[in-house]
Parts: sequence; structure tokens; C-alpha cells
Amino acid sequence: MNIFVINASPKKESSITFHHVLFLQKHFKNLHFEYYHLRKEALNENEIEELINQMAVNDLVLFAYPVYTMSVPYGLMQLMGQLLSHTSRYKLIHVNVSQISTSKFLFDNLAHEYMAACFRDMDMTLLNTHSAEREDLLSNQGKKHLIAYMDEVVYQIKTQYKKTHDPYIREVNQNPFAYEILPEKHKEPEDILVIYNAEDYSESLKNMIAAFENICRYRVHLLDLSNHSFKSGCSGCMVCQLTHKCTLNDGFEAMYQEKIANSKVVLIASDIRYHHLDKVFKLLDERLFLKSHYIETKRKAMGYLLTGSLDQNQHLLMALKAHTSFRNIYNLGYVLHNEHTLNAIENLCDQVTYFIKKTPEAPQDFYGVAGMKLYEDIVYRNRGFLRTEHRFLKKNKFYDFPKKSFFKQQAMKIMMKSILHKPEAEQGRMLNEFLLQPYKKEIDY
Ligand SMILES: Cc1cc2nc3c(=O)[nH]c(=O)nc-3n(C[C@H](O)[C@H](O)[C@H](O)COP(=O)(O)O)c2cc1C
Repeated sequence: MNIFVINASPKKESSITFHHVLFLQKHFKNLHFEYYHLRKEALNENEIEELINQMAVNDLVLFAYPVYTMSVPYGLMQLMGQLLSHTSRYKLIHVNVSQISTSKFLFDNLAHEYMAACFRDMDMTLLNTHSAEREDLLSNQGKKHLIAYMDEVVYQIKTQYKKTHDPYIREVNQNPFAYEILPEKHKEPEDILVIYNAEDYSESLKNMIAAFENICRYRVHLLDLSNHSFKSGCSGCMVCQLTHKCTLNDGFEAMYQEKIANSKVVLIASDIRYHHLDKVFKLLDERLFLKSHYIETKRKAMGYLLTGSLDQNQHLLMALKAHTSFRNIYNLGYVLHNEHTLNAIENLCDQVTYFIKKTPEAPQDFYGVAGMKLYEDIVYRNRGFLRTEHRFLKKNKFYDFPKKSFFKQQAMKIMMKSILHKPEAEQGRMLNEFLLQPYKKEIDY
């Protein structure tokens, strides 16, 4: 498998992001990596043409870049503009593309979304995106995340994954989605849960659920929330902080415990109406306030079968991404009702299989990391009152303070002092060398 890496860090070979990719090369010995270090100056017409030709003949184009000021570096933005306006860009249609960034997670999502929009415009097939913390290569956990990411990309290439459940696909199909049930194959014993509201769902959604149930190789359980009559959303009384119980006392907790809590994979099936999912899902979310804001400690996955437009409901797309990321849940993606629905359901089934077999951890990004920091801060400051939540965060080691980096800070102070009086050019070189040293060790060269 040939991977063509476009390294868009202005630091080229001295880039931390590039070292993350070198680590992947070292780990995945059967993959062939080729590198293109993007220069700062714009490429000329011939160079762009040549670059497009190179991109088109590989199994995967991997864009590797640091997040710069909540987006991609200037040089990469310049390149994307050139690619998008080039007459040969048609050669990139359906070419597999992936992206990896390193950053401090500060609005990394905006850089990824920008790149995804460009890939969409060029009709490239966007596979996994990976957001690495700039020090991921220096920790076992970070390395595991990197390997899991590339593992999944390889799986997606092998299964000829077409990201047709891209939530931005604009056309919304006016014809109902129909599906002819195929003779049922043997189902493997893993429980997949689909939650929906049969009292108020469209014909298309009903058929999408049936198709998923039919195609999925695992046992699928259906949970129709219209069979339960819960009183309301959260009443905001906060008594659950004292008693661990909900004062509404309408069977919600028992239902959650029995039907949802132990499912490894949950699919939400809903029509998007009035700019939101079916209201039962809002009720479900609010009532889970009781469960320490429903942050998962076990590896779980969630996917969505939806009708209606996510493209015109960006707040909803953001909310769905934030929900999974903040809750530490692996996001399986979104199937929408459009001309690619069946293909997207097949992809979703592949993703479910991948999750069941590998149980990867939920990748990290801005939504989860930033949300968690804010949440930890709120709970810690109010720990006398938010007792359940404080205990939960403490017990599960979610708090990431106090920061214990005494030796690192001292080393930095000594280094800064030692280069203070050197010529400017030398200072830059020494600083970079110092920062890159531990990364170089990781890939031994
Ligand atoms: C000009 C500049 C802007 C940056 N902006 C962000 C940012 O908005 N968000 C973030 O999380 N990190 C930001 N960073 C940190 C880099 O993304 C991070 O250090 C990255 O790992 C550097 O990778 P590289 O060595 O491959 O260039 C910024 C760094 C620089 C130099």
C-alpha cells in the first residue's frame, strides 16, 4: 500500500507532526511511505500538475500539518487554493485522502473541517482524520492512538470505504428510502442497539433501521422509546447530587440500566425535524445528567441513522460531534437519507464490525478536550455541591491537575538561559533542536 505524505509544516523535516508520521512508517513496515515537504512559496502551474499526478497514483494521500492559529498553516491554505482552482483537479476524484495534525487541541476541529470542505469540493474520499496532541509520540497512550488511527485507515482502504455518509452531502432525497429485506444470515453474538421513536418516524427512517438490522452481521436490538412514557426532561432540582436518584421517579433509570447502559454499540435513529433530532433524544440526554454527565469509562461506540439535512443544521452536527467526543464515545458516523443511503448503511455496518473487532478508543479532539477541561474546572470548584460528579471524576482519574512537570520546566529554563546570548539564527536552530530531541529518540535515527 503506497502512502503519499504531504508534510505541510513550515519546519519540514524538523517538524513534530512529521515525526509522528515517521513513527507510523516505523511501525507499519508493510506500508510504503513517500514524502513531499511543502515549501513556503507558492508552486507554479507545472509543479501543481506534477503534484496532482503524484497524488492520484497512490493508495492514500496523507496531509500532515500542525494547527496554526485555529486553522492550517499559510502554505497549506495556499496549496489548497491552488489545487481547487487547477484544471487537473478532476484527477483527484475518489482518491483516498486522510489528515493528521499535531497541536494543543486548541480549535483543531476548525482546521480539520476546513480541509474536509476542500476534499469534498474535489470529490476526494476522506477517510479517518487524526488529531494528535503535540506530545503524543512521547507517551504510550499517544502512540496507541496513532497506531489505532492508521490501522483503521488501512481497514478503510481495504474495504474500499466510500465516505458517502459524509454529513455535508447536500442533496436530500425527496423519495422515500425503500429496502427489500434479504434472507437473514447467521448473526454473530454481539449486541447492537438501535434507539428510535416509532410513534413519530418517517417511512424512510423505518426502512433505514430495517436495512441496518438486515445487513449488520451482529444481533440488533430495537428500543422503541414510544413504548415508555417518561414524565419530562430534567426538572433541574439537583437533588440527584445528594441522593443519586431522580425525583421524577418514572422508571427512566431502570429502563436505562436494563436496555442501554450495557450496550457497546448504540445507534440513534431519528428524523431531523424543526432543526433537531426527535425530542425523545433530548429527554434522554437531559435525564442522563444524573449519570455524571454520561462520560463513558468503557469503550463504546455511537452512530446515527438520520433523515433531513445536517448541512443546514450545523449546530446539530456540532452537538452530535461534541456529545460523542466529550463523552469519550467512538463516533461511527452519520447515515443520511440521500441517494447514497444504502451504500452508507453498508459502510456503517463495516465500521461497526471494525469497532467490535478492535474496540479502538475514542479519538480526541477540541470538543472533548476543551469540554472536559471546562467541566473539570466547574466540578472541582463546586466539589462541595457537585459531589457525585466530583467523586466520579476523581475515581476515574479524569482530573488532569495538578500539573507535575517540575523537571521539564527546569530543563526549559536552563536551555533558554544558555541560548539567550547566541546570534538569532543560532537561537532558532538550538531551540528547535531542543524541542525535537525527544521525538527523534522515539524513531531512533
Ligand atoms: C504560529 C503558530 C500558531 C499555532 N496555533 C495553534 C492553534 O491555534 N491551536 C493549537 O492547538 N496549537 C497551535 N500551535 C501549536 C502547534 O500546532 C504545535 O506546536 C504543533 O505540534 C507544531 O507542529 P510542527 O512541529 O509539525 O510544525 C501553533 C503554533 C504556531 C507556531
